[in-house]
Amino acid sequence: MNDTLITRIPTEYEHIKEATNDLKFTMASDLYTGSLLKTLAASKPAGRFLELGTGTGLATAWIVSGLDTKSSLVTIENNELLIDVAKKYISDSKVEFVLADAYKWIKNYNEEKFDFIFADAMPGKYDLFEETIDILKSGGFYIIDDMLPQPNWPFGHEEKVNDFINKLEERTDLLITKLNWSTGIIIVVKK
Ligand SMILES: C[S@@+](CC[C@H](N)C(=O)[O-])C[C@H]1O[C@@H](n2cnc3c(N)ncnc32)[C@H](O)[C@@H]1O
Repeated sequence: MNDTLITRIPTEYEHIKEATNDLKFTMASDLYTGSLLKTLAASKPAGRFLELGTGTGLATAWIVSGLDTKSSLVTIENNELLIDVAKKYISDSKVEFVLADAYKWIKNYNEEKFDFIFADAMPGKYDLFEETIDILKSGGFYIIDDMLPQPNWPFGHEEKVNDFINKLEERTDLLITKLNWSTGIIIVVKK
């Protein structure tokens, strides 16, 4: 198996990647994570999807490419410059781009729960984790990346990551699989 061969990359991907490099944005999700997101997204027909931390939309493009026509995605980002890149290249009525502070957004959210959450910002992952799991449906996916040491981790981040993994493992209502692949992915399903 050649796992470096990633096929059917979303058509917007290269344009977004170029804009991402121009902005010197270094926190973008990689191709492997994208491919996994697309595959898992396709398992939730008519699903409600949430992404926390749109960035420039690289992972957004992958998630969208796995959605069926009845699904919808809400993606939250607090940096206008970044989310504008995503909006420019991903033109799809199934996607709602929200320029907001995810801390406030998660706390205020009281609508239908989600089938799939890609938590790629501090809020929803290291902060407000319980609140985020609360808005995930039973049987829903909660996916996180960057769980293996990364060159851009600030001092002390590794301890934070380990504490977070311990927290995930202690919750008996969550089934988790840790993948030593890509940037370190954890797939969680809520019972
Ligand atoms: C790891 S990056 C996301 C990368 C993106 N998912 C991709 O595929 O390239 C984390 C993002 O979260 C955003 N962010 C950080 N704090 C936030 C907050 N409080 N509310 C909303 N977005 C936030 C950052 O601006 C950054 O774009």
